[in-house]
Amino acid sequence: MNLQDRQIAVIGLGYVGLPLAIEYGKKYRVIGFDIFKARVEELERGEDHTLEADLVGMQQARDAFRSTGKIGLTFSSDPEDLKQVNTYIVTVPTPIDRFNNPDLTPLLKASETIVKTLNRGDIVIYESTVYPGCTEEDCVPVLEKNSGLKFNVDFFCGYSPERINPGDKVNTLTKIKKITSGSTPEVADIVDALYNSILLNGTHRAPNMKVAEAAKAVENSQRDVNISFMNELALICDRVGIDTNDVIEAAGTKWNFLKYRPGLVGGHCISVDPYYLAHKARSLGYDPQVILSGRAVNNSIAKFIADKTLKLMIQKDHKIKNANILILGVTFKENCPDCRNTKVVDIANELEDFGVNVDIYDPWANPAVVKHEYGKNLLPVIDPNKQYSAIIACVSHKEFYNFDFKKYQEQDAVIFDVKNFVDRSLVDGRL
Ligand SMILES: NC(=O)c1ccc[n+]([C@@H]2O[C@H](COP(=O)([O-])OP(=O)(O)OC[C@H]3O[C@@H](n4cnc5c(N)ncnc54)[C@H](O)[C@@H]3O)[C@@H](O)[C@H]2O)c1
Repeated sequence: MNLQDRQIAVIGLGYVGLPLAIEYGKKYRVIGFDIFKARVEELERGEDHTLEADLVGMQQARDAFRSTGKIGLTFSSDPEDLKQVNTYIVTVPTPIDRFNNPDLTPLLKASETIVKTLNRGDIVIYESTVYPGCTEEDCVPVLEKNSGLKFNVDFFCGYSPERINPGDKVNTLTKIKKITSGSTPEVADIVDALYNSILLNGTHRAPNMKVAEAAKAVENSQRDVNISFMNELALICDRVGIDTNDVIEAAGTKWNFLKYRPGLVGGHCISVDPYYLAHKARSLGYDPQVILSGRAVNNSIAKFIADKTLKLMIQKDHKIKNANILILGVTFKENCPDCRNTKVVDIANELEDFGVNVDIYDPWANPAVVKHEYGKNLLPVIDPNKQYSAIIACVSHKEFYNFDFKKYQEQDAVIFDVKNFVDRSLVDGRL
């Protein structure tokens, strides 16, 4: 089959799936499939709440389908529409459960959807972040069951992890070098060619799918562990009575020092993927201590920030019970509406345990999502007349660069800077 004859379905139209469907839609016939009907309706209206997609590109891909029928993008939540597809790309979430174990439910459900229309010669490429071995050990059995088709005889798989970074408008999908792999050398060639046909900076072909799966989990685990070391440094510096960022600046003058910063580690990737790697290691009888101790340190930072703010308030003679504290930012990172696994809510909860009234303001977050996921009401605007005993600058959204911290400092509020972006002369503490 020629590459041009590939009819692609992207399964799961979130932060990862939608940009991919758009890029492929410019060159191939693509169905963007999502079980969430409201998401499909939103995309059909030309809107995208994740703010990740190139809406002009989306319109071009939609128009290309209307004019040629041979290339271009359509959206659907009906599995029947996948009948003509011969190449599936799975981009559904891979979260953890409340015991921090991988929750493969969306991945396996998506595989069950594919089984219904899987045909001889089809290729199923997984992009969702998993642990090494997941595609062959967990997904392939689902694809084989009920389809009557045999893996690597009748149908084939690929694995190509995504590396996009929400909110980052520089390192976008087509500019990132992508890892590719396939279940046979021939299929690896096809998967590689398919991605190369939309990427500007090419691919790295991994020797097999397990290596590609491991590479993604390791990229994010490495970042998590490096940040955890800086978070541990922050806990030590606090006890010593010195500023962590001063230490990092000084140490950073050595040629081989890596300038990671301490911080809250939330989101759908860095705070989750290490648990996938740890789960695999444990299933093979190895207890991964570095990975999990990094996770434990990073998970403790929200409580440290809350407790430190309260200590600073006491030093300024503020009463704790019924005090008002303003938190700036609730998303898991700056200039992005994504609130998944945000650790800012842990700060708010810890403060509320002390009887403090916490207001949260975030111009990027969707108030309905924050209410639904965390039970917290966001402030629509900051009341300029309300007195706050402390301001915690949690997320460095561009809007907060002009925030009037000085006014609150003059009112004797504690200013705590989590992201190291507030004028240093105005802050009482920073991470
Ligand atoms: N967000 C990122 O920055 C990022 C970066 C790299 C890799 N990843 C990985 O990519 C995967 C997807 O992440 P995301 O952030 O795009 O998730 P997301 O939550 O933004 O989107 C997932 C979409 O999949 C849909 N979905 C869920 N179950 C489905 C099913 N059974 N069938 C069809 N659609 C289904 C949801 O409705 C949703 O629209 C995850 O494994 C994640 O770890 C994410």
